[in-house]
Amino acid sequence: MNRRTIGTLAATLVLGGAFLTAAAEPAKPTAVPVQAAPDTTTAAETPEQFAARMKWFKDAKFGMFVHWGIYSVPAGEWKGKTNYGEWFQLQTKMPCAEYDQFASRFNPVKFDARAFVKVAKDAGMKYIVVTSKHHDGFCMYDTKLTEFNIIKASPYGRDPLKALAEACREAGLVFCVYYSLADWHHPESPAKYSQSRFHGQPKADADSDKYIEYLKGQVREILTQYGPVGLLWFDGGGAFKENRLNVLHSQEVVDLIHQLQPACIVNDRLGLGDYGTPEQYIPGEKASKPFEVCMTLNGHWGYNKHDQNWKSADSLIANIADIVSKGGNYLLNVGPTAEGEIPAPSVERLREIGDWLKINGEAVYGAGPTPFGQEFGKVVGKDARKHPKVEGALDWRCTTQPGKLYFHLLKWPGTSFTVTGMKSKATKAYLLTAVGKTKVALAQDGEKLTVKLPEAAPGAHATVLCVEHE
Ligand code: GLC
Repeated sequence: MNRRTIGTLAATLVLGGAFLTAAAEPAKPTAVPVQAAPDTTTAAETPEQFAARMKWFKDAKFGMFVHWGIYSVPAGEWKGKTNYGEWFQLQTKMPCAEYDQFASRFNPVKFDARAFVKVAKDAGMKYIVVTSKHHDGFCMYDTKLTEFNIIKASPYGRDPLKALAEACREAGLVFCVYYSLADWHHPESPAKYSQSRFHGQPKADADSDKYIEYLKGQVREILTQYGPVGLLWFDGGGAFKENRLNVLHSQEVVDLIHQLQPACIVNDRLGLGDYGTPEQYIPGEKASKPFEVCMTLNGHWGYNKHDQNWKSADSLIANIADIVSKGGNYLLNVGPTAEGEIPAPSVERLREIGDWLKINGEAVYGAGPTPFGQEFGKVVGKDARKHPKVEGALDWRCTTQPGKLYFHLLKWPGTSFTVTGMKSKATKAYLLTAVGKTKVALAQDGEKLTVKLPEAAPGAHATVLCVEHE
């Protein structure tokens, strides 16, 4: 094994924090703690080169996460319990021989890549991150390195990643791939994660070198079979941590990625990363480094037919405003069914967001973070889920474009809106509405700006007030 210098080792241990905890609690998936991007993945890069590589991502703001695999066959239910998702195999402690049967029943004949991508596009999403392999090890793409894949092991026999990559290119969306470092199926994957295969008896002599070769081979396939891949989204680093494989191999994997696709962005769960991945929560404050909040639309990543606990379009739109005002992206998940369709309640919510973005997109795409900060209130600690606990947050968020401040009014403030801390002279104010820009009167007294507003909000969801300034 190729040992790295002590410096890299120490740095990687510290920086690996996010992905190290990603799968630390097998029975109940845990959240990843606050993690700003620790480093760029290319040490040789100048800050300008890094910014250029990140540009499409920083401008895109909104993407679709897709957790799709054979766990959608049981659809979250097993032996009277109904709370399963993509961790189905580990949580039911199902041996591989039994779990593998789901592959032979997985036939997503209703999958239509173009229609699928259209849902994302109509939602105003600019990129798609789709699971090539989740922790169960089933490959949703044409791999030569295991038979446990959609071509060989399912009656469907086609490669959805290929179809999605093509549909994304046609529609102008960036195609991106999720890949789990964990693998409950591969015989040589790090021990803890083979526990379902071996009925709770981890294989003591797993040959991690072989597994690393497998993983690198799959990264090579993904980056050579589908054209440009915007970003690689690694997950499931718990097993890596246990075996210190992150310390030994993360840089090699990243180097391989950049050798094959120099522009490819890599998230931070490999232990190195171009950007941070807060999971199921929004950081309390503005971040200087790129980040992407990933979130479910209901309570599960993988399809669960019983979970009807959907977030409202209103709260999802407020999340977009909150995240973009803090300098981040929003990666919102869908869990397609075993037939290959995005559940209707997901499509409905995404369409509502898309309608909002058609009116308010200029306040989101390519927008900068807030120049204020008082609207975030104060982070006073952590809640039970170790997410930031905030007090005193205001009902607005602010994003920017050159010469423009966009106030996202999350709750209608009544007949006037006041903000303090204006550093420049406001020249003009208007609301973004379905029927166009509606001018509103403004008055400025030093750093205090007051805008007159109609009594009721002009539309559903957050209304955006644009203030142009010198
Ligand atoms: C959690 C889940 C995992 C999912 C990931 C996405 O860590 O346990 O299954 O893929 O979130 O961020």
